[in-house]
Amino acid sequence: MNDPQWQLVDDFLTERLAPADAALKATLEANATAGLPAIDVSPLLGKLLHVLVKAVGARSILEIGTLGGYSTIWLARALPAGGKVTTLESDPDHAIVAKANLTRAGLYHLVDLRLAPAAETLAELKAQACPPFDFIFIDADKPSYPEYLTWCLQLSRPGTVIVADNVVRAGKIVDASSSEPDVQGIRRFLDMLAAEPRLSTSALQTVGKKGYDGVAIAVVLR
Ligand code: SAH
Ligand code: DHB
Ligand code: MG
Repeated sequence: MNDPQWQLVDDFLTERLAPADAALKATLEANATAGLPAIDVSPLLGKLLHVLVKAVGARSILEIGTLGGYSTIWLARALPAGGKVTTLESDPDHAIVAKANLTRAGLYHLVDLRLAPAAETLAELKAQACPPFDFIFIDADKPSYPEYLTWCLQLSRPGTVIVADNVVRAGKIVDASSSEPDVQGIRRFLDMLAAEPRLSTSALQTVGKKGYDGVAIAVVLR
């Protein structure tokens, strides 16, 4: 599923609303050179994260899944003075590239890049009584989304916005009998969102250069 019209419209909107600059371009080039998978958020989704961070006035951001730091750049650029992004990555090769990309972008001083399996860092943050995050972006291994949501609720306050990437997976999420762990993880995550009285959640299907996928957007109520 990849209609050429989606790509034309994605390009049209991206040129106007989320044009690449030197740092964003250099980041995607460095990722490709280092052999990282091209699974960064699209420019328009990066810009959506940026807009949401600004709208919420978020000062502390948690990102689960850094890759080369492309989405981290969009998030960090939306921070007010004194703000910080904590971003979790388990792959040392990815973390090295992300550090270089964020440094080149002049943003590394705003970023706390934690190299460890995310579940470990999340437990550590909770154990150390980390103050609640204002904004959370979940974008790491899909089978762990349910576990990440449980931690995120413990690291939130009323008003915290939680965005999760890849909740549609080319439509595969409607297949209850799917044998893909990614699909089952996302399905369980969506069921948790639906059943969680502390959250109010919506989701958007997205199409474009990165194919057919979607994001869930939740706000913590209490
Ligand atoms: N947010 C990035 C893309 C993230 S891709 C962007 O849009 O630019 C998903 C990342 O999650 C990969 O870099 C992968 O190494 C990382 N990841 C996978 N499993 C993880 C885990 N258990 N803990 C932390 N990071 C993990
Ligand atoms: C995959 C992961 C992502 O975060 C994404 O945006 C697209 C694809 C993947 O693991 O295939
Ligand atoms: Mg993703």
